[in-house]
Amino acid sequence: MNQTNANAVGTWVDQILDQQKYNSPAAQASAYAPSNIALSKYWGKRETSFNLPVTGSLSISLAQHGTRTGLSVIDAPQHQVILNGVAIGASSCFAVKVCQWLDRVLPSDLKLRIDTYNTVPTAAGLASSASGFAALTLATNTLMGWQLPERQLSALARLGSGSASRSLWHGFAKWQVGELADGSDSIAFPLTQQWPQLRVGLLTISSQTKAVSSREGMARTIATSALYQQWPQQAQSNLATIEAAITDSDFQTMAATAEHNAMSMHATMAAAWPPLVYWQPESLIQMQKVWQLRQQGLPVYLTMDAGPNIKLLFEAQHQADVQAAFAEVQVISPFA
Ligand code: PMV
Repeated sequence: MNQTNANAVGTWVDQILDQQKYNSPAAQASAYAPSNIALSKYWGKRETSFNLPVTGSLSISLAQHGTRTGLSVIDAPQHQVILNGVAIGASSCFAVKVCQWLDRVLPSDLKLRIDTYNTVPTAAGLASSASGFAALTLATNTLMGWQLPERQLSALARLGSGSASRSLWHGFAKWQVGELADGSDSIAFPLTQQWPQLRVGLLTISSQTKAVSSREGMARTIATSALYQQWPQQAQSNLATIEAAITDSDFQTMAATAEHNAMSMHATMAAAWPPLVYWQPESLIQMQKVWQLRQQGLPVYLTMDAGPNIKLLFEAQHQADVQAAFAEVQVISPFA
């Protein structure tokens, strides 16, 4: 981050927190946030230091699959980060991002122990940065007694990871692109629509950390992929279609548009240089199986983020058929 941007973030965070930055903290606090999967994806930043997106996006939260974060005040020169019960080194990528976020929002002399538990089985291969930064934001809000409105919490969570702005709630969330240079209107909010029959199936191909982060992947795609030029227009159109389909409980339109959106996002990456392909051979095998099942009349669709794992979209009445076809699938009921 260059100095001008660092100052701009500082000013903006200070405005949100006003005098509350110097509240006396409670001894401890904790919060849970669900992970989420985008139906219409965020791919590309118009501004990198605030994680401001090129387009809006829309997600479904993954219920009990998420992160619980506990915070306690410690008397130490540095924050201490514990991930799933194991202390992690201050130089690890996760600890650096968490500490940078805390140092943006807390007085410099306040140091915390951060206990982060991902409730997603590690083998599920789900990104935990969205639920991680959302839970950290909610826990810090409680610890510091900020009592900030959700829109401001969403903007603060976004500073840690863009998709975290959508992870403060269960159900559907929409992250509006915003227009202001400081990003204060680039925030997510929950949609009121419920869809009790909706199911998300996790097909884990690999749970290893990806070699190219989303941040780097987005930057490379924007810089080198000619196909990215059509992405913003398609993403905005897909977002509108998916939102309308949710309102109408139109599964076919919602899920087909989500799959098309994911495949188009991956096409922009494949056309980057060097090419960026997050799929493994096994991902493609499972994708072809989904397409075959659909040809045979089973309404099941897929979406994928910046990784090899597949998320199936289907409705409750087809759960038994989906489970019969994919023995390893983990089924989530987002509205249970
Ligand atoms: O929030 P990040 O920086 O981890 O980026 C998320 C990018 C995608 O998962 C590919 C899409 C999305 O909208 O979540």
